[in-house]
Amino acid sequence: MAKSGRLGRVLTLLGLALLLGACSLVEIEDAALTSWKPAGPNAERIDDLFWMVFNIAAGVFAFVVVALIVIVVRFRDRSGAKEPKQLHGNARLEVVWTVIPALILATIAVPTVQSVFDLTGCDPDSMRIQLTGHQWWFEVQYPDYGIDTANVVVIPAGEEACLEMTSDDVLHNFWAPALHGKRYLVPGQFTELRLESYEPGEFWAHCAEYCGLSHSLMRARVLALAPADFQAWVEAQQQPAVLPAEGTQAWEGYQVFVNKGCTQCHSYRVDGEGGNIVPADAFNGPDLTHFASRNVFAGAVLPEYGESREDALRRWLADPPSVKPGSYMPNLALTAEEIDNLIVFLEESR
Ligand code: CUA
Repeated sequence: MAKSGRLGRVLTLLGLALLLGACSLVEIEDAALTSWKPAGPNAERIDDLFWMVFNIAAGVFAFVVVALIVIVVRFRDRSGAKEPKQLHGNARLEVVWTVIPALILATIAVPTVQSVFDLTGCDPDSMRIQLTGHQWWFEVQYPDYGIDTANVVVIPAGEEACLEMTSDDVLHNFWAPALHGKRYLVPGQFTELRLESYEPGEFWAHCAEYCGLSHSLMRARVLALAPADFQAWVEAQQQPAVLPAEGTQAWEGYQVFVNKGCTQCHSYRVDGEGGNIVPADAFNGPDLTHFASRNVFAGAVLPEYGESREDALRRWLADPPSVKPGSYMPNLALTAEEIDNLIVFLEESR
């Protein structure tokens, strides 16, 4: 082949590699579920381990490729060349190429096993948060504070919180890649996951085990707040809901909530008259007290990017299974007016 043709091919390949590299960079900048940006000590530990293994593997790869090229070129068949010296049965060489890989594997194994043990379980003194998987949303409870919320795990930044996780139905898996690796939520068992963020921030999470029709729509957020903000959040969540004043649109919405079947599944903690609404356990939907304090709902799927809360709520209340296939929240055939009233009621429940 002519030299210029070969150069052309090499340049084309280089160009393609650069192009693909650019794509992956764009993706990393925008991806909410990336594990390349650890934001807490546990995720950083995993990231460090990954890069250590990656660098060793890259070194081995480079060595093998260079050796291969040198050997192929140097010992290629040339006219009149003698057969190269055969090495079969060279004990010293065989010891060398057994011992070196064994040392490399040991170098990888020690920090790997140590990390696995260090990242298992929680510090017994850390704050407990119970995370229960449901098809298809995450229930978040704070037993020490009497808080029952959904889809948004609120933690204080700079401290370890312990997720005690279980499932109400099938296997789920909680994965907030900026903060930790994946861990299963198993029916009838408790698994622990330590969750810590260095700084305040919002981190995306996703169910990482196929759990039925709307598995892909089972998301969550971790919201790390400065410790003082976390305390304020706790105190606000501990307050009972304030009932809307009679005759207002929010009151009309509350009537829809109570009379149209919502309370079959959703609790609403109210002080005084009317008392707490706590449905039978059989159909457990998210506790809607302080619903408006959560920035996402419906398994953290809504509102979609760029959509207003009101539009998202309207879509959801009109026909939940059309948003989330298989949803246990049925289409209650609410009228447009009932939906408007419900939205006002829900959006006032801060
Ligand atoms: Cu829960 Cu997938």
